[in-house]
Parts: sequence; C-alpha cells; structure tokens
Amino acid sequence: MNTFRIESAPLQGYTDYIFRNLHYKYIGGIDAYYTPFVRYEHENFRNKDLRDISPKNNRTPSLIPQLIASSPEELNNICKMLRKSGYKQLDINMGCPFIPIVRRKKGSGILPYPDKVNELLKETLKFPEISFSVKTRLGWESPNECLQLLPIFHSYPLHHITLHARTGKQQYNGHTDITSFGSFYEQCKIPLLYNGDITSKEDAFTIKRQFPLIAGIAIGRGLLYNPFIAKEIKSEEISTSEKQQTMQCFHNEMLFCYQSLLDAEHLTLTKMKTFWEYFFPDADKKLRKKILKSKTINEYKLHSTFLLETILYNDNRQ
Ligand SMILES: Cc1cc2nc3c(=O)[nH]c(=O)nc-3n(C[C@H](O)[C@H](O)[C@H](O)COP(=O)(O)O)c2cc1C
Repeated sequence: MNTFRIESAPLQGYTDYIFRNLHYKYIGGIDAYYTPFVRYEHENFRNKDLRDISPKNNRTPSLIPQLIASSPEELNNICKMLRKSGYKQLDINMGCPFIPIVRRKKGSGILPYPDKVNELLKETLKFPEISFSVKTRLGWESPNECLQLLPIFHSYPLHHITLHARTGKQQYNGHTDITSFGSFYEQCKIPLLYNGDITSKEDAFTIKRQFPLIAGIAIGRGLLYNPFIAKEIKSEEISTSEKQQTMQCFHNEMLFCYQSLLDAEHLTLTKMKTFWEYFFPDADKKLRKKILKSKTINEYKLHSTFLLETILYNDNRQ
C-alpha cells in the first residue's frame, strides 16, 4: 500500500452490487468497494447476502466482502463460504452500532471484550490464503477501547485497519473525534485508513494533512451525497455537462436494475426513494419532496430527471 487509497465504506441498504457496479461503470475513482456485512445466523446465510457477494453479479475489479461475527465458529463458516466464491481479501466488521447486533457482542459490541476480539482474529489464521482487514470504531463506549485492542491487532497479519472516528454509542451522530483517532494513528503499526464525515475534497485534504502517514480514507455517506467525490479528490477534471450526462445515466440504470430485480412498482419506488435520503443534500427541498411523494415510476422519473438537471445547472452558475 504505497499510494493514498480512496475506498468506498459499506452502507447496508445502499452500496449493494447494483450500486457498486454502476458507480464503477459510470463514475469510479474508488480503489476498493466493500460489501455490506455478511452474517451467518441460525446456521444460514441470507439470500440477499449471497446474491450480493456472488461473483456473477459483481463487476468491480476490487471488491472486498465484509463479514460480521462474534464467535470463531461463525467467522469460520462465513470465511469458508467466501473462500469458495474465490475471495482472497475479507474485512471484519467491528463497528456496527445497531443494538441487536451489539447485544450479541458483534460489530462495535465486541470492542469492550479484548479476549473475544483475540479469539476471532485467531480464527483468521486458519485461512492463510486470505488477507484480512478490520473496520472498527474508537470503542463502544469509550474512545480509548481501540488503544487497548491495538496490541491484539498488532499480533495478527492484518492488511489494514479502517477506523471510524466515533464510538459505537454515538451511532452516526455528533462530531468525529479527531484527537482520539490521532492517538490510535500515533501507535498503529498497521496501514490505517481514516473514516468519518468526509464529504468534500477539502475534508479529505485536511485529514491527509493532519495524518500524513495514513494509507487512505474510506468514504461512506459522502459517496451518496456526491457520487463524484472520489474523482474530485483525485483531482480529475469533470465538466458540468459530463457530470450531468453521467449522473442521469447512472441514476437511470440504477432505476432500471432495481425495477428488474424487485419486479414491483412500489418496491422499486421505495428503494429509489431511500437513495434520496442522501443524494445531493443541498438540492432544492421542494423538488426533493416531489420525488419522495411520487406514486408511480413515471412521476418519479419526471421529478428525479428535473432535479438532477437543476443541481447541475446551479453548479454551472457557481
Ligand atoms: C445506512 C448505513 C449503513 C451502514 N452499513 C455498514 C456496513 O454494512 N458495514 C460497515 O462496516 N459500516 C456500515 N456503515 C458505516 C459506514 O461504513 C461508515 O463507517 C460511517 O457511515 C461513517 O462514515 P461516513 O461519515 O463517511 O458515512 C453504515 C452506515 C450507514 C449510515
């Protein structure tokens, strides 16, 4: 890892294979995409997860499946399934803050239990052909928990760590804690990626200036706010008309793919509307409301097309 990487942090419910494939096809700028976490529960995988990791559905050259587990057995089962699908790099989720997950000592719920973290990572040694990374937070409750885990992380051949600079208890709210990220950064000997609230080129440069030795950044919601963000950080020039055409194609093919997959107008509408919780937050509120109130696909198409044209028109005038 000798170049500064820009990765797409997984967002359950958003960055599925349809989004990833089309983002890569039309926009790009991302060095690695991650799947939202795969779980193994009641001795089963969810069909949705299997579809999402299936190599026949995925067309991004660098895709890292993410898994979530609390016991070595669970991790072992997921790794075996993903190995069978041909994956050589996997990411372990130690950051999810949802209470039902946390209660089962998974995601950020595992962070206060160093022994459990150690047990889980020990199991990865049974898969020497796979390279593992960890996506974590500062802690569940205290931002110092990650420092206590650092000696454990150091004792395994982790490819990298992505650290979301919040605690689990914070969920996705409140400020990122740059000071605590800095303490981890100072002591971490594993390639480290920063994650949390990168929503512009300036945010990325500020983090890079402050932590010059980080291996890169992972962008979650910022990629939905502005799908061109990674290209902009890489200083690739994109004209307004190019953005306009690209965004229309990207969005229209997303709509087409979800229509084919979900096969029911109301399900497609619901799915597409969820993206507008994040897409272009500065867009005209009245136009956004029209999209969210659309009752048919035709109505949705009309309003979304108009809104996308308007955003880029405003952009042009700046
Ligand atoms: C709706 C939603 C779903 C998420 N799903 C996942 C997930 O499956 N795996 C994961 O590691 N993080 C997940 N995250 C966390 C993000 O990857 C990221 O760490 C977090 O949003 C902070 O980064 P950001 O400010 O760039 O979005 C999710 C976040 C949101 C808001």
